[in-house]
Amino acid sequence: MKINRVGIVGCGTMGSGITQVCAQSGYSVTVSEVSEDLLKKGLAAINSNLSRAVEKQRITAADRDVTLARIRGTTSFNDFKDCDLVIEAAIEQLEPKNKIFAELDKICPRHAILASNTSGLPIIDMAMATGRPEKVLGLHFFNPAPVMKLLEVVRTIATSDETLATAREFGQSIGKTVVIARDTPGFIVNRLMLPELLNAVRMLEAGVATREDIDNAVVLGLNHPMGPLALADLVGLDVVLSLAQTLYNDLKDPQFTPPVLLLRMVSAGWLGRKKGKGFYEYK
Ligand code: 3HC
Repeated sequence: MKINRVGIVGCGTMGSGITQVCAQSGYSVTVSEVSEDLLKKGLAAINSNLSRAVEKQRITAADRDVTLARIRGTTSFNDFKDCDLVIEAAIEQLEPKNKIFAELDKICPRHAILASNTSGLPIIDMAMATGRPEKVLGLHFFNPAPVMKLLEVVRTIATSDETLATAREFGQSIGKTVVIARDTPGFIVNRLMLPELLNAVRMLEAGVATREDIDNAVVLGLNHPMGPLALADLVGLDVVLSLAQTLYNDLKDPQFTPPVLLLRMVSAGWLGRKKGKGFYEYK
């Protein structure tokens, strides 16, 4: 199936990054937010990212303008009626996601594929909220989406081979390396990443080392681009907590028990970079 127009639900950190990647790869994109204010903020983030790339001479001003012209912002799901693929990147909770999928199912053309960018929630639940479970799968991007080269394509027990093949081709067309994962908690990457992040929080809690020393140890001793506490701040501590809860609930594996410090920081609203404070402070 040929994909011409891509829809993105949500223009926050992930939604705006995915919108940028798709538009830069030549797709027409419709992106929605729940309010004009949030939409403006998301579109401004894309503009500023592309303008930084122009300043660094990675793209021309004309490239930026052509990319921006491919993006249509909206606050109405009705504007997804001409999309061939819609990627949901909304709040990381199952109930709202199921509602979004039910609504998209009513509006999108019958041939359209509906995908979720969830970090680890069960995609089969979202699929069963639609009348087209064979056309539903996970397209899991990594933060920052314009930079990270991986796309996890997540197949449920109901996803058809044809949908999977189209999704793989789409991923390659936007310059990502595709890996295929089953619809299991945390898929591949988050199931591997989360124990490291949670253990770093436990080590900080136990006074094993300072935040800087834990992060430096991982950056310089394991050659990771950033330490686990800085990475948790980038991902968002609310997202890390929700992931830990999903994995613990589904697998009952104690390594996914959320550390108390993480629970308290989320209660305090110290959610990481997006709030200016997490394990570190941000301007
Ligand atoms: N959007 C677009 N581009 C960005 C960006 C953003 N938000 N942040 C950084 N970049 C670009 C910069 O413009 C720069 O491009 P250039 O080399 O062409 O000039 C390049 O990335 C490097 O950026 P910086 O020089 O500012 O900083 P770093 O070299 O420290 O790189 C980083 C920043 C790319 C974030 C790097 O530290 C990194 O790769 N960190 C690990 C990120 C990671 O592991 N992400 C996965 C998280 S897990 C996840 O998302 C799954 C979810 O389900 C939880």
